[in-house]
Amino acid sequence: MLKFDLLQTDPATPDTGYAGSHARRGTLTLNHGVVQTPIFMPVGTYGTVKGVTPASLDDMGAQIILGNTFHLWMRPGQEVMKSFGGLHGFERWNKPILTDSGGFQVWSLGAMRKITEEGVHFSSPVNGDKLFMSPEVSMQIQTTLNSDIVMQLDECTPYLSVEPKTKGQITTEREARTSMEMSLRWAKRSQAEFARLENPNALFGIVQGGMFEHLRQESLEALVEMNFPGYAVGGVSVGEPKDEMLRIMAHSPHRLPAHKPRYLMGVGTPEDLVEGVAQGVDMFDCVMPTRNARNGTLFTRFGDLKMRNARHKTDHGPLDATCTCYTCKGVTRPDGTVSGGFSRAYLHHLDRCGEMLSPMLSSIHNLHYYLNLMTEVRAALDAGTFGAFRQQFKADRARGV
Ligand code: GUN
Ligand code: ZN
Repeated sequence: MLKFDLLQTDPATPDTGYAGSHARRGTLTLNHGVVQTPIFMPVGTYGTVKGVTPASLDDMGAQIILGNTFHLWMRPGQEVMKSFGGLHGFERWNKPILTDSGGFQVWSLGAMRKITEEGVHFSSPVNGDKLFMSPEVSMQIQTTLNSDIVMQLDECTPYLSVEPKTKGQITTEREARTSMEMSLRWAKRSQAEFARLENPNALFGIVQGGMFEHLRQESLEALVEMNFPGYAVGGVSVGEPKDEMLRIMAHSPHRLPAHKPRYLMGVGTPEDLVEGVAQGVDMFDCVMPTRNARNGTLFTRFGDLKMRNARHKTDHGPLDATCTCYTCKGVTRPDGTVSGGFSRAYLHHLDRCGEMLSPMLSSIHNLHYYLNLMTEVRAALDAGTFGAFRQQFKADRARGV
């Protein structure tokens, strides 16, 4: 089940000189609930958003989170997942879940895998067992997980060629075509298996084509022909320079069907998200907020902040004075006292001591920052002020902390 309602677009207004954008505001109804778009989806690879409880995710307004077919297949495995009736019951998250198919993760194994037309042969990074992932296997696992959004198995075309002979060279058009065409055949097989399994959720197709717009156009048209309930743009943020990423990001989203959700996979910085929205993207995921939290990089309205920097050592001020998260502002108890609301000095100290609370509080802040950014984007779209918001956002972020 999937229903997507388009609520607002961002048209040009000739009287003010505003050129408009492809941005849209929508609601996405899935089996486990309704998601307001544009949305950021926190990444929960192993059935947990690293260091963050579901209660905390609720508090920060997370509406949908990711899980990973490949990782959950390795551990705890399909039998355990089946015994819990899927991922929701296992990880105790009752709102929507999207699972990635495993294509990207298997691909990331490098020398440990062999990709054929049939699927991917590889050795388990956990115990060395010989394993095989195909479009059919991916659909079977994702059906067991009962994720609200299932991704087709695809091959993420890398920026640099993976052929040993040519390693280090930019993927050629020929290589990108071969890869994209196989992903299309895997899309068909994913769709057939998803239907055979009578999976009650929604399957997304993934646009590939490397750095070539005409290949992406072919991929997109073939996928639209297959009539998926939603579409993703993959193979972006795979090591290419920023201007290449923006060029590819500008190609596909707005060419996909207007009445279906669009998901840009694995992107990106706060700036990339706002740019993605302007290009017509509805959904984003990225490990950046949680990964950066673990290495002490915090996002703020006025730029990124390195918590490790000695200048924070005696600072009583909050990480971000404009942020309303548990880490920065805390929550007011019924008796009027405040829980949370930590100083920079304390966060710096926790990091210096390698305390567990350090990445936990940093992850809460960074995820809150990303989720709140999307809340502001949605409010601007509702109010018809996205153009002004986009400008102010860029200026604020460039100001520096
Ligand atoms: N995550 C980031 N990029 C990709 C991609 O191209 N394919 C898949 N399946 N997942 C991704
Ligand atoms: Zn905060």
